[in-house]
Amino acid sequence: MEVAVIGAGYVGLTTAACLASHENSVTCIDTDGARVAALNAGRMPIYEPGLDVVIEKAAKAGRLRFTTDVATNVRSADIVFLAVGTPSAADGGVDLSQIEAAAASIGPHLKSRAVVVIKSTVPPGTAQRVSAILQTRASADGVTVVSNPEFLREGSALKDCQHPDRIVIGSFDDHGAAMMRKLYSPFGARNVPFVMTTPANAELIKYAANAFLAMKIGFINDIADLCEKIGGDVGDVARGIGLDARIGTAFLQAGPGYGGSCFPKDTRGLAHAGKAHGAPQPLVELVIERNENRMRKIARRVLDALRIKDSESTARRQARVAIFGLAFKPETDDMRDAPSLTVISMLQKEGVTVSAHDPHAMANARALLDDVELCTCPYEAAKDADAIVLLTEWSSFRALDIGRLAGTMRGQSFFDYRNAFKPNEILAHGLDYFGVGRPAQVHAPAE
Ligand code: NAD
Ligand code: UGA
Repeated sequence: MEVAVIGAGYVGLTTAACLASHENSVTCIDTDGARVAALNAGRMPIYEPGLDVVIEKAAKAGRLRFTTDVATNVRSADIVFLAVGTPSAADGGVDLSQIEAAAASIGPHLKSRAVVVIKSTVPPGTAQRVSAILQTRASADGVTVVSNPEFLREGSALKDCQHPDRIVIGSFDDHGAAMMRKLYSPFGARNVPFVMTTPANAELIKYAANAFLAMKIGFINDIADLCEKIGGDVGDVARGIGLDARIGTAFLQAGPGYGGSCFPKDTRGLAHAGKAHGAPQPLVELVIERNENRMRKIARRVLDALRIKDSESTARRQARVAIFGLAFKPETDDMRDAPSLTVISMLQKEGVTVSAHDPHAMANARALLDDVELCTCPYEAAKDADAIVLLTEWSSFRALDIGRLAGTMRGQSFFDYRNAFKPNEILAHGLDYFGVGRPAQVHAPAE
């Protein structure tokens, strides 16, 4: 089929690459000329493992192109995906301006019976709104809108897109549903379940899925706090409950709180939609509040530990903290709503000097962080630090020489906010260990 994908971000690029590798002819269109130029020069504008290889292969085979030109390239498309951003609005709702602009830009160029597919995460009622925009803009007959939410995760986007748990298709009519079934027939042949439903249900499925996953994380983070108090281990508790098939082990990893471009904005979006429709979502509202508090609590815990080490009132002002991991999760360069941003800002407010290292998010971090010493390696970041705070569980951190880190530090606090290490691996090198949902283990002060 002829496919156009509007938006060359994490979702647009992955969708375009996946569809092109299934023999479709795909044009990916973005308003960002620099991004399109980079893609056409073979450079990836984002870090997403394996995506570059699939894009290069599809582009060389002539099945994938990148352009800023909407008019020419939408004209021949049977299916046009909208994969643009849907950030939070100032009131906690969803800013649909990119969706509306994209719909308005394609409208006049659509061919007869074209299917416009909303891939972006949008609140219930948006497909209706896009239909209304197209009705006034589209000159062709029989154009229809479908909601087809995306469930991929950054860091494993390609795998998630190629092997989805399910495909949700919300259509207003049989034509939209049939075209989507045809497009996704390779997945149907592999027995991937299809959920054929209305656009409003499809839109809500996406928000409910993200909110439920966020709620699981919020729940286990609260249990982690209790574990710390009773001398328990949240890893054992998570496994113990997760092996109940009704609960499941996924998304029960305690940590610094969820971040990223989706859970924070989508939980806010669902809470906002609930209020707007007179069906408030107090559970989700509490999850949001607990998550925001958690990141602040982490920073407070670090500050408290630093003060314990030195009772002088100026201690915080002289303190140095090294942050290991800035991206909101491993295997991505994405810094949107990353826990590191909240933790660093709180430490800086107290006068702490912050150094940091992340294997792939340094460029994005540079654009977002002021006065942070961004270091080329973890050892450089740890130099003269009073504490190390590990916020992202990059696998490369597991291979660090802890003895070398300890040797370069001034202090001895190691905050492992992802439980990436066993306490003994850290304690053995003279450092104090502060994990999540495990009791802190500190060395007795020297006589
Ligand atoms: P992104 O910010 O990485 O990419 C959006 C792209 O759209 C940008 O390159 C931007 O230049 C382009 N754009 C904006 N307006 C445009 C227009 N009018 N015409 C053409 N291009 C335009 O966003 P993303 O992370 O890919 O997310 C896109 C949507 O998918 C969001 O609704 C998000 O919630 C949803 N989603 C994201 C993920 C994820 O893991 N990132 C997963 C599932 C769903
Ligand atoms: C999430 C969902 O998992 C995807 O299904 C969805 O498509 C996407 O949002 C979206 O709508 O954009 P993503 O944000 O890429 O994907 O990453 P996740 O792996 O879900 O992690 C989100 C946050 O939760 C990260 O900060 C991560 O560290 C945290 N997390 C995750 C935990 O703290 N514990 C866990 O057990 C799992």
